[in-house]
Amino acid sequence: MMKQIEQVARWITQAKRVVVFGGAGLSTESGIPDFRSPGGVWDKYDPEDFYYQKFISSEASREKYWQMATEMYEPMKKAQPNPAHLAIAELEKLGKLDCVITQNIDGLHHKAGNSEEKIIELHGTAMHVTCLNCKKRYDRDQIQKRIRSGIKVPYCDDCGGPLKPATISFGQSMPERETEEAYHRSSSCDLFIVIGSSLVVQPAASMPLVAKRNGAKLVIINRDPTPYDDLADMVIHGQAGLTMAAILDLVREGLGIAGR
Ligand code: APR
Repeated sequence: MMKQIEQVARWITQAKRVVVFGGAGLSTESGIPDFRSPGGVWDKYDPEDFYYQKFISSEASREKYWQMATEMYEPMKKAQPNPAHLAIAELEKLGKLDCVITQNIDGLHHKAGNSEEKIIELHGTAMHVTCLNCKKRYDRDQIQKRIRSGIKVPYCDDCGGPLKPATISFGQSMPERETEEAYHRSSSCDLFIVIGSSLVVQPAASMPLVAKRNGAKLVIINRDPTPYDDLADMVIHGQAGLTMAAILDLVREGLGIAGR
């Protein structure tokens, strides 16, 4: 694995535009379960209950959604960035990060220190809540406080519309600006690094293909195999935190920068 890590560090040092593409496997070392590993979210909850159509269909399904969303929010709120997030933030500090495209909704790239404009949240964020009717935005903790005080289904103060965490659920349309931006950045980078994703959910999972088709080198750092492994220039089946920390040690060396 050391040879692979050295090679990726060299590619990063030589690259002009590095895009990092993250999935839930980036955050498991921060205590947030991923979706498809054993014991993950889809072992605990039925994905059907998270469909957008179901959410808007009835008060009862909104109540069930908010119960589950509250359970999932607690570990996210307490979570701290792990060495993988810190390595991606350091890539930006070293001037080696074009952007990080994330499928995650946990806000850990912001907490790790990446700048807002470098983070593309393809599946939205659990850190705030929006009204599905008038789009008014609320801080997530403000709404969780209402839930804790006994409100089972929160509605908008302004228009009475249903409130939902600002995440993109199955069946909900993707955020236009973020999706376009992610396609554009994926097609114009020269190094695309996937970290901690099973690459099974479209359209997010097509980004590595877009990058590869436009001439970028593709690196996949993931504990388990993905459908894109054969397409990749390098596949490292390892832990995100350990692998990314080792890569950054070598990138710093390659750039002649002393250790942290
Ligand atoms: N280090 C490296 N890889 C890891 C680690 C880790 N510490 N922990 C988990 N993984 C890998 C797993 O092997 C798995 O292949 O991360 C991957 C996580 O895959 P998923 O659970 O499918 O998560 P993700 O790819 O982000 O799912 C995409 O599906 O349900 C939707 O909206 C949800 O954004 C999510 C989307």
